[in-house]
Amino acid sequence: MSAGGNSPSFVHQPVMLTECLDLLNLHEGARVIDFTAGGGGHSAAMAQRVAQGGMVVAIDRDEDAIAATSQRLSLLQDPVELKLLKSDFSGARRALLAGGADLTGTLDGALFDLGVSSYQLDGPRGFSFMRDEPLDMRMDRTTGQSAADLLQTASNDELFKILRDFGEERFAAAIARRIVERRRTVKIDRTSQLVDIVMSAVPRAAWPKDKHVATRSFQAIRMAVNNELAQIEAGLDYAIDLLKPGGRLVVISFHSLEDRIVKQRFLAAAGRAPSPPGRSPAAMLPRNDVPVLRIITRKPLEASAEEVAINPRARSARLRAAEKL
Ligand SMILES: C[S@@+](CC[C@H](N)C(=O)[O-])C[C@H]1O[C@@H](n2cnc3c(N)ncnc32)[C@H](O)[C@@H]1O
Repeated sequence: MSAGGNSPSFVHQPVMLTECLDLLNLHEGARVIDFTAGGGGHSAAMAQRVAQGGMVVAIDRDEDAIAATSQRLSLLQDPVELKLLKSDFSGARRALLAGGADLTGTLDGALFDLGVSSYQLDGPRGFSFMRDEPLDMRMDRTTGQSAADLLQTASNDELFKILRDFGEERFAAAIARRIVERRRTVKIDRTSQLVDIVMSAVPRAAWPKDKHVATRSFQAIRMAVNNELAQIEAGLDYAIDLLKPGGRLVVISFHSLEDRIVKQRFLAAAGRAPSPPGRSPAAMLPRNDVPVLRIITRKPLEASAEEVAINPRARSARLRAAEKL
């Protein structure tokens, strides 16, 4: 569906919805921001909670998500003030200010439900190794480099680091080498080509039993194409600025690299620096900065077994929440 599409086929089961709404602690008239509008599932539930008199700002870098969220919220009986913005996290401050809204220090809640939506995964945008599609992988298809272009232009060393750092792929060096060999003769611009490369670079005996051998490579390349980890840091900093004292921040992440950034950002904002590698969290070092957050979830919450049974995507969800001081 394009931005001008005519049906909200983006509909997607919002992950850990009850936990989000409880921890956001929303009341009628509250003003909230959803940084990852997606299919609008969380935004719609937040809108129902804040009701008339409330405000929902919904942001996404994917124009299809903005269209789907707009459509979904227009169906609500009790319309709230709605601001929809196509922006990535790092551009959100500028985008809101350009629209004449300086919301700094005024919001009651902020939500991030990170990663890709099921709509994006269901393609045909190259996010999935399950089908043969053009290798694009951009959440925002109007800007930046596609995965095919990245595979064509990155050096062997850059590809190795992407696969190692974002995919935690043991065979990063072999896969990077194979990409560079293959692109000498043909442009790698289909998902099936990348799958073949990974399958030929990883010894058969080392293929994981519980997931496809290309899972880690696809994740790594997607994260590089969308600059996902740096985006999270920028988004969290801005979300903290937007909240008023007592406002709540809730973040759901889907893999350990994302969760580590959220945890460290929360700790730093709570006035505690992460301990050096290998030290226990109890050894967290106090920081001199004035704390701006109180951490609510000492450990991340996980989805209930009931939710995972209905929505497998919830299996790897980790939710952290904090309150602005
Ligand atoms: C998991 S989906 C959100 C689903 C949504 N909570 C719902 O209930 O339908 C994540 C969304 O975040 C968007 N997204 C991810 N990273 C982003 C970023 N850095 N800036 C803006 N949007 C981003 C994606 O385009 C995707 O639509």
